[in-house]
Amino acid sequence: MDIRGALNVRAVLQQIKQIRPAVIAGCVTLVLAGVTQAQTAPTARFPLVSIEKGKALFERTCAQCHGRNMVNAGTTVYDLRRFPVDDPDRFVQSVTKGKGNMPSFGETFAADEVKLLWAYVGSRGGKEP
Ligand code: HEC
Repeated sequence: MDIRGALNVRAVLQQIKQIRPAVIAGCVTLVLAGVTQAQTAPTARFPLVSIEKGKALFERTCAQCHGRNMVNAGTTVYDLRRFPVDDPDRFVQSVTKGKGNMPSFGETFAADEVKLLWAYVGSRGGKEP
């Protein structure tokens, strides 16, 4: 290799060094975008924070009958995993007014708390754990 060739190689190496941070930044951005995507995907209908708050309310008040994480046999108590996700009105109605053997929670929860409960139940309606 003559001196020119060596210089060219050097120049190319120099260029690679210069663009490396940009390439790394690009990869990091892509990875972060992927992570963000993965986090927002299941919460598309409900903000994650609402789901979390609703779950906390649920575990305190509803889980004693409906089971932790909504898991129960579904024989005597409604299996909430099967609740139709497109019927929030029915949810609010049943929770605030009661239904069958379920007491009403209209006095227990404010309307926005019922919404949080719905975020939790609606976020996994129809899905097995
Ligand atoms: C004392 C036990 C008990 C507790 C506590 C309880 N439930 Fe229920 N729940 C039931 C029973 C029993 C049913 C089935 C009612 C029926 O269809 O006769 C039911 C049914 C439901 C349904 C379905 C109603 C429908 O439209 O078919 C929803 C939604 C529901 N519960 C939500 C909740 C939420 C949210 C909480 C907590 C705030 C809660 N439940 C607390 C016993 C309970």
